[in-house]
Amino acid sequence: MRYIGNKTRILESIEELIKDKELDQIENANFADLFSGTGSVAEFFKDKFNITINDSQYNASVISQARINNSETPEFKKFVNEYGKSPFTYFNDSNNIPEGYTGFVSENFTTNGKRKFFTLDNAIIIDFIRNKLDDLKSNNILDDNEYIFLLGSLLESTMGVSNTSGTYEAFFEDWEARAKKVFKLEPITLTEKDVYGKNNRVFNEDTNELVRKITGDIAYIDPPYTVTQYASAYHVLETIALNDSPEIRGKTGRRVNRRMSDYNKKTKVKDVFEDLIRQVNFEHIIISYSNQGLVPIEELIDTIKKYAIENTVDIRYVNYREYRNLNSSQKSKGNPLQEFLIYFKKDTKIKKSPLNYAGSKNDIIDIIKTNLPSKISTFVDSMAGAYNVGINIDGADKIIFNEKQPFVHYIMQSLLYKDGYQIINSIENIINEFSLSPGDKESYLQLRQSYNDDINKDYAKLYVLSLYSFQHMIRFNQKGGYNVPVGNSGFNENVVERILNFTPKTKKFDCWNKSFEEINYFDFDKDSLFYFDPPYIITSAAYNDGNRMNVQWTPKMETLLLNKLSKIHEKGYKFMLSNVIEHKGETNKKLIDWIKKHNFNVVEVGKTGRRFPRHEVLVKNY
Ligand SMILES: C[S@@+](CC[C@H](N)C(=O)[O-])C[C@H]1O[C@@H](n2cnc3c(N)ncnc32)[C@H](O)[C@@H]1O
Repeated sequence: MRYIGNKTRILESIEELIKDKELDQIENANFADLFSGTGSVAEFFKDKFNITINDSQYNASVISQARINNSETPEFKKFVNEYGKSPFTYFNDSNNIPEGYTGFVSENFTTNGKRKFFTLDNAIIIDFIRNKLDDLKSNNILDDNEYIFLLGSLLESTMGVSNTSGTYEAFFEDWEARAKKVFKLEPITLTEKDVYGKNNRVFNEDTNELVRKITGDIAYIDPPYTVTQYASAYHVLETIALNDSPEIRGKTGRRVNRRMSDYNKKTKVKDVFEDLIRQVNFEHIIISYSNQGLVPIEELIDTIKKYAIENTVDIRYVNYREYRNLNSSQKSKGNPLQEFLIYFKKDTKIKKSPLNYAGSKNDIIDIIKTNLPSKISTFVDSMAGAYNVGINIDGADKIIFNEKQPFVHYIMQSLLYKDGYQIINSIENIINEFSLSPGDKESYLQLRQSYNDDINKDYAKLYVLSLYSFQHMIRFNQKGGYNVPVGNSGFNENVVERILNFTPKTKKFDCWNKSFEEINYFDFDKDSLFYFDPPYIITSAAYNDGNRMNVQWTPKMETLLLNKLSKIHEKGYKFMLSNVIEHKGETNKKLIDWIKKHNFNVVEVGKTGRRFPRHEVLVKNY
């Protein structure tokens, strides 16, 4: 099948890469072809992996779906029962077409519509088949797979009689030999391999939106790399596939509402590409790109390196035939066109802080991540608490963890900077010194006494106390004494694992100990993102569970924060705020009014908290 950017020629190179990285050894793996085009890559692996395909063009997703879900032509049992012959025999018999039959293709893409994509005779057959397929499906004579198989076959056969050089951006003035042939419906070209996946997934969406919703093992990313929009190049196929009689315009009758891709736009492509790399939730990534793509290959590699696990990036190039329709400004300046395959591994697991912390954002890291802007220079976790958010941000130039409470700041700073085994060692020393064991009140109270009596506070002791305390709370009495009773758990494997894994996904970072209003936000550049996770005023007022770590969060502080955020917004900086709009019937009116006034975006986080469900949101100004 002639299709721009088709990767049939590099299938062996992709396979070799997959073998080298032992991805074929992953048990029951999911392979996603996220810009599937005609599905050649996904189809090649349909006998090895569970397959996911996606393309924003419906015609491409239909063709891919037909190919990944079939190893041979379906039987069409019901159809054969009804008509006594296969649909191919039926459709290729012109006697079945009623006299004077016409349709959208006949009226618009032939000389009847002052266009010469198809001869009128061929267009009538195409129209007839297309409409009949919908009837057969709604009458349950074709099941979903049979319908898609025939629609894919129709699209492929249509390409075979089109009076074009391959795309539909122009037609020839004279009839090419291929266009003069009588249209024949042929089964779509397939490789006869078994289909491994029982539930292959098919999507027809913008990839950047899709990757926010799905996960898997191997993602193959083959975006367009020139300014040629597939929505324009294949508009006739899209109109046939959708069969929606759209409003069309111009010499070639392009759909007025086409799904244009940002990957074909010079001004947008870098942002969408980085956004995709940030958001794709697959462990193994393979990207196809070219040295003549809109993003210079070196820049793409630099971006990839920000998100890749260290030392996993593998860059290979394969010589590749030049795409003939490149216009002259895009043609290589003496460089042969090279197709690159770039492999890297991503750390998709969410890290958890070793410090249990009231109000921790563990459960909503996913939502925070899907709402990040494409590019982040410095991520400022302005009220960082146990660092759960900042630790999971990848691809930023730098993370700043800022926490006002000195004891939290010092505990967290040591957890980040000190060697994990050294930390574990000092915890074990304290445990041994006091003979701590989960639920043992006496030893716990001795440690508590010892911590409270020290004039120079030993934060390692405070951390160990938090591990053994009731619900891992950190709470102090009026005089500053730690006063939480003993709990049921202690230092265990889980904590050890968290300590050893506690390295920020972004390599450069700093730990600050300031109040949020002391941060000089405007010293940062405009690609920075400021994240705020204050105690929630309505939950704390009602249930007193918001005075976390003894920060007194008052209406005055809340006003101060909202004013600061308004300033940040006015000056053209980006922020994201976690908060609660409603809690047990109480609403945070001040917050709601402020959001409305500025028309900020609100992302629903949902109802969280078991005992007192909260309506939690993320507010962002971008
Ligand atoms: C280079 S082609 C893929 C070729 C394919 N690997 C093959 O061998 O046939 C790129 C595909 O990306 C699709 N596409 C472009 N922008 C997209 C987007 N934002 N989301 C999903 N698909 C997109 C185009 O419709 C096109 O089919």
